[in-house]
Amino acid sequence: MFTALTVSFVLCGVAAATELWDRNLAYRSPFVGDVKLSHNTRSIQARNIQLAKRQITGASAAGFTDEHYPTFYGGDFSNSPFIWNGGVNFTHSVASGDPFDDSVLLWTRAAPVSTAPGPDQSVPICVAFKIFDNSELSGRPVDSGDAFTSYDVDFTLKVEAKNLKPDTKYWYQFADCTNTKTVSPVGLTRTISSPNTPANAVNGGKPLTLAVFSCSQYQNGYFNAYGFAAHNTTADLFLHLGDYIYESLGNGANIGRQTLGRELATIADYRLRLNQYRTDVSLVTAHQNAPWITVWVCVIHLRFADQSWKAGTADSNDTAVGCSFFRLEHASQTGSLLQRQAAHLGNFQIGKLLDLTMLDTRQYDRDITDLYYNTEAINEIASVNNRSLMGTAQENWFYDTLSSSKERGAIWRIVGQQIVFTQLNEFGEFDVDAWDGYRANRNRVLDHLYNNEISNTVILSGDSHANWVSDLAHPNDTIHYNMTSGDGAIGVEFAGTAVTSPSSFGSGIAPTAADVISQQLLALNTDLQWSEGSYRGFFTLTIDPNTVNATYFAMSNISNPNLDGFASASFIVKAGANKLTRPVAGGTVAAGVLKA
Ligand SMILES: *[C@@H]1O[C@H](CO)[C@@H](O)[C@H](O)[C@H]1NC(C)=O
Ligand SMILES: *[C@@H]1O[C@H](CO)[C@@H](O)[C@H](O)[C@H]1NC(C)=O
Ligand SMILES: *[C@@H]1O[C@H](CO)[C@@H](O)[C@H](O)[C@H]1NC(C)=O
Ligand SMILES: *[C@@H]1O[C@H](CO)[C@@H](O)[C@H](O)[C@H]1NC(C)=O
Ligand SMILES: *[C@@H]1O[C@H](CO)[C@@H](O)[C@H](O)[C@H]1NC(C)=O
Ligand SMILES: *[C@@H]1O[C@H](CO)[C@@H](O)[C@H](O)[C@H]1NC(C)=O
Ligand SMILES: *[C@@H]1O[C@H](CO)[C@@H](O)[C@H](O)[C@H]1NC(C)=O
Ligand SMILES: *[C@@H]1O[C@H](CO)[C@@H](O)[C@H](O)[C@H]1NC(C)=O
Repeated sequence: MFTALTVSFVLCGVAAATELWDRNLAYRSPFVGDVKLSHNTRSIQARNIQLAKRQITGASAAGFTDEHYPTFYGGDFSNSPFIWNGGVNFTHSVASGDPFDDSVLLWTRAAPVSTAPGPDQSVPICVAFKIFDNSELSGRPVDSGDAFTSYDVDFTLKVEAKNLKPDTKYWYQFADCTNTKTVSPVGLTRTISSPNTPANAVNGGKPLTLAVFSCSQYQNGYFNAYGFAAHNTTADLFLHLGDYIYESLGNGANIGRQTLGRELATIADYRLRLNQYRTDVSLVTAHQNAPWITVWVCVIHLRFADQSWKAGTADSNDTAVGCSFFRLEHASQTGSLLQRQAAHLGNFQIGKLLDLTMLDTRQYDRDITDLYYNTEAINEIASVNNRSLMGTAQENWFYDTLSSSKERGAIWRIVGQQIVFTQLNEFGEFDVDAWDGYRANRNRVLDHLYNNEISNTVILSGDSHANWVSDLAHPNDTIHYNMTSGDGAIGVEFAGTAVTSPSSFGSGIAPTAADVISQQLLALNTDLQWSEGSYRGFFTLTIDPNTVNATYFAMSNISNPNLDGFASASFIVKAGANKLTRPVAGGTVAAGVLKA
């Protein structure tokens, strides 16, 4: 653990203050140089020097410069008036994410303990991190360092742990630099395999498991799905496909989940809401136990809100919400910070086993969606040829990524994105906020897969608050595609229900009532093979060179914190088959309805 004396900071060499600021990537979130949200650490540093000078007088004030930060008063942070030494509280435990084969991002929040005596809270808080290859945190850390945080980023800290080995588990911990006895909980994370690792050697030769989530609304229930995945599955990576938090207020009083604040508009609102979400025990456990990969590049960029598109949301007529200025070419540049920025909307090459491609189908450069007052108009233009869900740049990048994945010999192409891809005829109505509102774009994706004979594509979706499992084929195509055998399909879609958000079949709908609706929808929709609308939950994908298995989990009761749940259905996709194995789900499911 953090037993080293503070004096070791001096022995390790003096880090300039600018490095200490810059090491905390939270200041540069979401992108370096982002004019709206990224912080200028030079200005923050200058501000702190000004503030420090006001607190001292005489000769030492004049001599106080940037480089003195860590060494002022002999490098002992514990009595420096320029570093917070009033105690910190790791209020939201720890988290990790965006793992590469040699690095991973580590996150925590180190809030000043307000009651403790100490300097003005405008001084930086110094946080140390260490990452080890063993759970006892013994021996030399594989990587370690110090970084500053401050109120500018709500005392959050995001550092990149480097020089890690591929496909390896790591344990990490943060500490208060001024009192290294104050430590965070220990987090568990891991790296992914290197791009050229043979498929059968990925994850040490064991199947790789992804746990897939969407739509976690605090006021509607406890996030038991996250805890279940952490405690009751062997998930290696957690994927979140959007709606990690909700901007609306809602009333969760009856289950003790009243949201604080108001409908989100300002950065302070978002911080309050995020911090409240991060009190959920299951959420905290899940972040502590495995790295997450999420689809929210643009989400944190400006505002994320209901039914968003590139220039607005249902609740606002903004003029510029999208972030298509963020250049996808960054993905090909070296330098892990740029890679990380691109990774949120990018590609993880996990050995030759798979490419995990994350899209932003919400805000990147999306043409106008259903904003409730314009539904009719959107229905009319849903098939217009030049209408794009992804934006031209992202569309082209996506097709190139699929082709390159095939060319490099990756067996599977797993695509994480927000909204349901397959056509869903809901009694003559279509959700035009999903891919059904961007039909030409969907056809272009399917054409790219068919025309280039790109096999083994599995699309993952969230957003709909219900479970849908489908073969991937052109909508209404009963000539090339056989819904009984699955022949003629070009892949599979696994769409998952919400962690807690209410069912699209009706809030709190009972399984029997939901099954009646599922039965009718299965009859109406050719490609749809399983439908389930009652349970809240998540699903896992277990991947090896021969099969992708999807197991859907249903949570028994989200009105209180618990780890009760069951596997509602399991599906097998065999490499090269491009369809669900028949009989679908082995012919039996524990919830929902299979196609007759
Ligand atoms: C630390 O933060 C947690 C979560 O907000 C809180 O429950 C706890 O009381 C705090 N501890 C101290 C010493 O402030
Ligand atoms: C946005 O504009 C539309 C069309 O003018 C209007 O109906 C809607 O109420 C506006 N929404 C907001 C939040 O201002
Ligand atoms: C798309 O096509 C429609 C109909 O042809 C046209 O009105 C519209 O301006 C086009 N939009 C763009 C962005 O090219
Ligand atoms: C598929 O058929 C349904 C029912 O006839 C129709 O409403 C829908 O528009 C068709 N979809 C496409 C993409 O043509
Ligand atoms: C579709 O597949 C089923 C099951 O293999 C088969 O019985 C049926 O003849 C096929 N239909 C067509 C039109 O080929
Ligand atoms: C998928 O399930 C089948 C049947 O239970 C099993 O034979 C296969 O090994 C599983 N594959 C993976 C990757 O777990
Ligand atoms: C779920 O839990 C709540 C309280 O925590 C309880 O009132 C309710 O009866 C439970 N529901 C079921 C179906 O067991
Ligand atoms: C999940 O794991 C927890 C903790 O190990 C255990 O208490 C619980 O019974 C498990 N749930 C199921 C459904 O097996």
